[in-house]
Amino acid sequence: MFKGKDIVSIRDLREEEMEKIFEIARDMIPIAKGEKREEYLRGYVLANLFFEPSTRTRMSFEAAMDRLGGKVLGFSNPSATSISKGETLADTIRMFDAYSDVIVIRHPLEGAARLAADFAEHPVINAGDGAGQHPTQTLLDIFTIVQEFGHVDGLKITLMGDLRYGRTVHSLAIALSYLDADVHLLSPRTLKMPKHIIREMKREPEIHERLEDVIEDTDVFYVTRIQKERFPDPTEYMKVAGSYSITKEHVKKMKDRAIIMHPLPRVNEIDPEVDYTPHARYFKQAFYGVPIRMAILALVLGVIE
Ligand code: NCD
Repeated sequence: MFKGKDIVSIRDLREEEMEKIFEIARDMIPIAKGEKREEYLRGYVLANLFFEPSTRTRMSFEAAMDRLGGKVLGFSNPSATSISKGETLADTIRMFDAYSDVIVIRHPLEGAARLAADFAEHPVINAGDGAGQHPTQTLLDIFTIVQEFGHVDGLKITLMGDLRYGRTVHSLAIALSYLDADVHLLSPRTLKMPKHIIREMKREPEIHERLEDVIEDTDVFYVTRIQKERFPDPTEYMKVAGSYSITKEHVKKMKDRAIIMHPLPRVNEIDPEVDYTPHARYFKQAFYGVPIRMAILALVLGVIE
């Protein structure tokens, strides 16, 4: 069911497919930690094409491939490739398609990963396309919640911060609504979730502007960075920079079992003091990127069914 599949949008995956990925990811955890050795991907090559900065996404795909015995090629600085000579995205994709078995792409333009999938014979995985989608992040985000609570349905999940330009929350809001979570959206008025995303959600989310309105009964806080690089006007950025930060004072008002997640990088949305509270899950969440990406790679390459 997975072999050769492109993962461009979270809409490409049904609930059973997500569950399958989670089941395999659970088995991959000891391999991701280096406690167990398996070489499921020996002889396979991944092309990691990063047209935008990345730490976790690029490195966790690389770690996933390395830990499973595969190899990685690609770039993180497109100016060092023929793209700087004017080569088109379609031609770049055709080349990497010829040199590898699976392509991971991050690009500043929405729709770039879909275009890559149209040109490549091999599976293409979207690692973030502008303010569009980031489906593998959504999978590791939901996996984190399931590992913590055992389920997603019925949980009050507050997505907060830059809901307008943050792509992780675009994929996540849609997926959570289909998994029957009680989704709440918290952002400054200028950074609200786009209407087209809300229309795609199964249930209408509740919208808030004040953290106080949700602090006491939220189960999962999903905090995001203000996406400075996507603001058309820097003065607009200055108006909202620093809004919606979580401090130790906020933490005191949270439910005992509430968790705080963040796709990272954080700038100042979460006070570093919060890291040492029992609510912080963002570093564990980032680790889960490795077993989740191992599972995705093994499935789309057809080495695990
Ligand atoms: C995010 C991204 O690139 O969309 N990072 C990530 O992949 N973990 C979030 C961000 O840049 O704020």
